[in-house]
Amino acid sequence: MSKDKTILRALAGETLPTPPIWMMRQAGRYLPEYKATRAQAGDFLSLCYNPELAAEVTFQPIRRYGFDAAILFADILLIPQALGADLWFVTGEGPRLSTLTTQAELDALKPVEAIHDTLSPIYETVKILSKGLPKETTLIGFAGAPWTVATYMIAGRGTPDQGPAHALKAENRAVFEGLIDRITAATVSYLSEQIKAGAEVVKIFDSWAGSLQGADFDAFSLKPMQRITAEIKALHPDVPVIAFPRGAGERYAGAHRAIGAECIAIDDGVTAEWAAEHVQKDGCVQGNLASSHMVTGGDALLSETRRIVRAFSKGPHIFNLGHGITPDADPENVKLMIDTVRGG
Ligand code: CP3
Repeated sequence: MSKDKTILRALAGETLPTPPIWMMRQAGRYLPEYKATRAQAGDFLSLCYNPELAAEVTFQPIRRYGFDAAILFADILLIPQALGADLWFVTGEGPRLSTLTTQAELDALKPVEAIHDTLSPIYETVKILSKGLPKETTLIGFAGAPWTVATYMIAGRGTPDQGPAHALKAENRAVFEGLIDRITAATVSYLSEQIKAGAEVVKIFDSWAGSLQGADFDAFSLKPMQRITAEIKALHPDVPVIAFPRGAGERYAGAHRAIGAECIAIDDGVTAEWAAEHVQKDGCVQGNLASSHMVTGGDALLSETRRIVRAFSKGPHIFNLGHGITPDADPENVKLMIDTVRGG
């Protein structure tokens, strides 16, 4: 492992004097240069599948801010598309997909081996990034967790409470579990190809983990992420995994062990002080700064940033937001956050 790569050092369990830093959704609409490249590509999916332009928007926040990690520019919904679902994005509203609620629709999905026909441009993007990033910048690949991806596939869109997915889980367990298994297998294969192309770390986003209650949280958030992590580690033993069971609350405690991941990403629903005591004791943590500070800035941004750095200073820590940066964020606030983390 290169000593220059502070993200890899933190993921290996090292406590660094200054935490390395990157930001969820760091390539995105808050940046004028992203908007320009996106306009050149046409729509969002054309940008995802254009390796040169997808690499360009991945490089943009590295050039502007010198983040310690770059995250591949793509989307968690490319897996459903690669499995045969229709996918499109409605401007101002979000993703739309063909719905999946029956055994016949599950059977109609393409086999896992076929996903690479669709996803091969993504591996090209990873190769461009792997060659072109500064030597100190770690390249993160990613995928959605099976539960979160399933919520979009079942409902055909984002839903506030993931109601349609909960309904299928209750009413047709076989189809629901079959879908989770299919996404799990596809995700292992997808992440493995990203790693072969040059991804040094992989992150699994379970953005809707928080709506799973009781045994369902273990069975459909932790367990599929554990299976993906174990299978990735069997193929690529040295690649660290970051898992993000967003909204887990007190169930963040023990998540490193339950998933087998080196790092747990934490949203802003728990305090950094609580997470330092109950989560960081098991390994590296990242996250927790409320994304809204990137919009509002000011003294609150400075004091919260310092508080999180202090709370996590006794163990391995990667500085990050609790969720993705939003389009209305001010790029100057991002700079302020980075200067505060690096300069005190
Ligand atoms: O972090 C990065 O900069 C890398 C790229 C990335 C995107 N999406 C690009 C994107 C990553 C890691 C994601 C993950 C993702 N995508 C998640 C999990 C993380 C989270 O935010 O909870 C989810 C749930 C999605 C699905 C998705 N993609 C939705 C619901 C939407 C529409 C809402 C929105 O935020 O715009 C997208 C679109 C999307 N994905 C955009 C970007 C930059 C905006 C597209 C645009 O340019 O208009």
